[in-house]
Amino acid sequence: MNIHRIAVIAGDGIGPEVVAQGLRVLHSAAENFGFGLDLTELPYGTEHWLATEEIFPDESFESLKSMDAILLGAIGDPRAPVGLIERGIIGRLRWDLDLWVNLRPIKLLDERFCPLKGKGPEDVDMVIVRENTEDAYVQKPQFENEGTKDEVAQQAMLYTYKGTERIIRYAFETAMTRPRKHLTLIDKANAVRAQSLYTRIFAEMSKEFPEVETRHLYVDAACMRMIESPESFDVAVTTNLFGDIVTDLGAMLQGGMGVAASANLRPGEVSLFESVHGSFPQAAGKNIANPIATINAVAMMLDYLGEKEAASAVENAVAHLLTSGAIRSLEVGEHATSEIGDMVVDTLCASAA
Ligand code: IPM
Ligand code: MN
Repeated sequence: MNIHRIAVIAGDGIGPEVVAQGLRVLHSAAENFGFGLDLTELPYGTEHWLATEEIFPDESFESLKSMDAILLGAIGDPRAPVGLIERGIIGRLRWDLDLWVNLRPIKLLDERFCPLKGKGPEDVDMVIVRENTEDAYVQKPQFENEGTKDEVAQQAMLYTYKGTERIIRYAFETAMTRPRKHLTLIDKANAVRAQSLYTRIFAEMSKEFPEVETRHLYVDAACMRMIESPESFDVAVTTNLFGDIVTDLGAMLQGGMGVAASANLRPGEVSLFESVHGSFPQAAGKNIANPIATINAVAMMLDYLGEKEAASAVENAVAHLLTSGAIRSLEVGEHATSEIGDMVVDTLCASAA
């Protein structure tokens, strides 16, 4: 039997509650599809930092390199300085494990969940490929004359040829696996001239992939098109910062942050799976947060681990619950967190029986 070694970081806010449901689904998938699990739960997050002043000890971080995957709940808590724990955990995982692809599928399953008039599942089915290791995210901020009226603050947007080439290649390859084979490049090279690196590499590489139809949009226009004609998107590739922004917008098209999942990949190596949403501290401990995003992240993780059947079964279970009306709405509080977990586990077991 195949045994998958998975590190679990439940994290802050609603993280532990949604991860608990994700793990129930994972265990049920393992039982129904015949694979084993070797889980290591790591306690890191704001609570742990408050108690111990420790963010992510090196030894524990190193141990991740021998794992197959990492499942992350959410990080962020108003009791810690802004960005400290996010950068120390999510950032460090992405950068120090070189998880260079942030894959964020946006798929609307039922038109009831789309805020756009007249758009349905056939219109919203795209994958955003977000670069995950460069850009302003990994540059040191500099503050001169901090706190005075002469303050100057800066943080560079930095892109390398290698970092840009690999993410654009990954996006072309992803486009090749999809029926439409259409790829949009999103940058802002008309204003941020450094991003002409993206434009140039994209144009050059399109010659290697003649079957892929391409389009280039500046990020402002891309936001406009995602609302006006989401059906024009199949796969899109973009920088780290713009990818962060457009994937929140995209999440709303598929029903909101309650369902959006993502994979942080270093293809062939230990990779990280998480929801797109944050820690939602106001809802923590109330059993009201929607665990579907984490359950969808579990499905992406199973797919990555090679458990294709189990991955589709989880995906189908969620899809069935959303399209049949069993999940009435994705509004917070409509269903209890654990109730959705029950529904997914029941549907999964019924489909596997
Ligand atoms: C995301 C999050 C993170 C990001 C934060 C928590 C640093 O918003 O995964 O989209 O900006 O990448
Ligand atoms: Mn984000």
